[in-house]
Amino acid sequence: MATTEELQTLVLTTLDKENVITDSKSLLVNDKPVDQLALLGALNSLKSKEMIDFTPIDRITWILTEEGKQLAKDGSHEARVFAAIPAGEEGLPIAELQNKVGASAKPGQGKAFKNKWVSKKGANLVRLVDTIVDETQRDLKEIESTGTLGDAKVLADLKKRTLVDKQKTTTYSVSKGPDFSLTVKKEATDITTEMLQSGEWKNATFKKYNFDAAGVPPNSGHLHPLMKVRQEFREIFFEMGFQEMPTNCFAESSFWNFDALFQPQQHPARDAHDTFFLKDPATSDRYPRDLMEKIKNTHENGGDTGSIGYNYKWKEEEAQKLILRTHTTAVSSFMLHKLSEETKKTGEFRPAKYFSIDRVFRNESVDATHLAEFHQIEGVIADKNLTLGDLIGFMDIFFKKMGMDKIRFKPTYNPYTEPSMEIFSYHEGLKSWVEIGNSGMFRPEMLLPLGLPSDVRVIAWGLGLERPTMVKYGISNIRDLLGHKVNIGMIKEYPICRLDKESKDKIEGVSED
Ligand code: PHE
Repeated sequence: MATTEELQTLVLTTLDKENVITDSKSLLVNDKPVDQLALLGALNSLKSKEMIDFTPIDRITWILTEEGKQLAKDGSHEARVFAAIPAGEEGLPIAELQNKVGASAKPGQGKAFKNKWVSKKGANLVRLVDTIVDETQRDLKEIESTGTLGDAKVLADLKKRTLVDKQKTTTYSVSKGPDFSLTVKKEATDITTEMLQSGEWKNATFKKYNFDAAGVPPNSGHLHPLMKVRQEFREIFFEMGFQEMPTNCFAESSFWNFDALFQPQQHPARDAHDTFFLKDPATSDRYPRDLMEKIKNTHENGGDTGSIGYNYKWKEEEAQKLILRTHTTAVSSFMLHKLSEETKKTGEFRPAKYFSIDRVFRNESVDATHLAEFHQIEGVIADKNLTLGDLIGFMDIFFKKMGMDKIRFKPTYNPYTEPSMEIFSYHEGLKSWVEIGNSGMFRPEMLLPLGLPSDVRVIAWGLGLERPTMVKYGISNIRDLLGHKVNIGMIKEYPICRLDKESKDKIEGVSED
């Protein structure tokens, strides 16, 4: 087959001589028509350099099938049957036809009867005519050389006999372009260091970018294992009537992350050693002024909450500091404030169940089980007169749905909850109780300034997403799950997550505290 260069030269010299190529069907290399697909490549390349222009000519042509080719060469089945029968009264016993003409026997007999060339006489076949013209062979030969046949009915019949088939072919009409020349300039596809150093770039012709070229099709996307497990947890929350909180903003003011949660401004978690502070912008004051006043008073002296507060001077600069949120409870405090605003508007408190599963950040040293960022699962229920018993009862149901039915609680401390409880689950493999989360009832010092009615109680809990995921997929180093060293193939190959809701301890999450 001719190379692209050879085809280009052929096109250019032909155009030079004849000015146009009306139909590329006529182009020959070594006396054979050129391969039109290869020609198209050559034409496209010349067109991109504006050396030529071309338009496709589409047409339907007829080609012979393998059987058709065979018959064009050896004669039709019916002609072979006719030839096999000797002239005269005697003819040929039908049983012998198969031996003489093989596979032509059956189709050939039918056609030869129809053409009135032969007929049956007893158990023999006899000729009805002396000579025949093998029209089928003649037609096939014509189609082979011209690609068509004048008689459409015969064509249709040959197609039915699967001797011929239709084929769409495209050839091209070619004309000179504005930059026509007999030589093809070499085009550089990219500027190189060498070209810059030698100054060659000044004279180089650059290949145009083809912005219409289809890119390499991307493989389909795959959910990261964390997102697969997240989806399963989401289902549990939705099943239980929870609403998802908007957690798509990772940067948060200290106000919502700490102050609104009654976390004093000198609390060690608010130190740069524990929390990432933003440089630019470094502050935000997107919180209501009246709420800020209430929170300031509560921190300083308890305000209207009946508490004595922390007894220190609260500073707004501290609250304005922008950070990467250290927990999703920052969003819970914002949502509870929104809920109280709605309550004020409608005059009626509406119980709420919220959840979120999203990323949080802590300035921690990284090791096999800790990263500076991870995902928290958080649930919040606000209703009148909830008790610690409700929290414990609800935790039981929630963790059972995750396949953990041995749950225990241990008192702990959070600035924003009282009482607070760490949640433990019995790990059958380790034969011990492992911490899986943290929970509590939000303090009045948090809820009253947010504006919730005084009989509304809010129970809440949080746990990490990473550890249940690692247990589920048998990953022992967190750096194999998240970060720049992960094996992308693992993301593709891990199956979707199905929490084994029946069995006892398939999932043992440990809160990341
Ligand atoms: N915010 C806590 C954490 O980061 C979890 C928690 C949420 C605790 C809600 C109590 C109530 O671990």
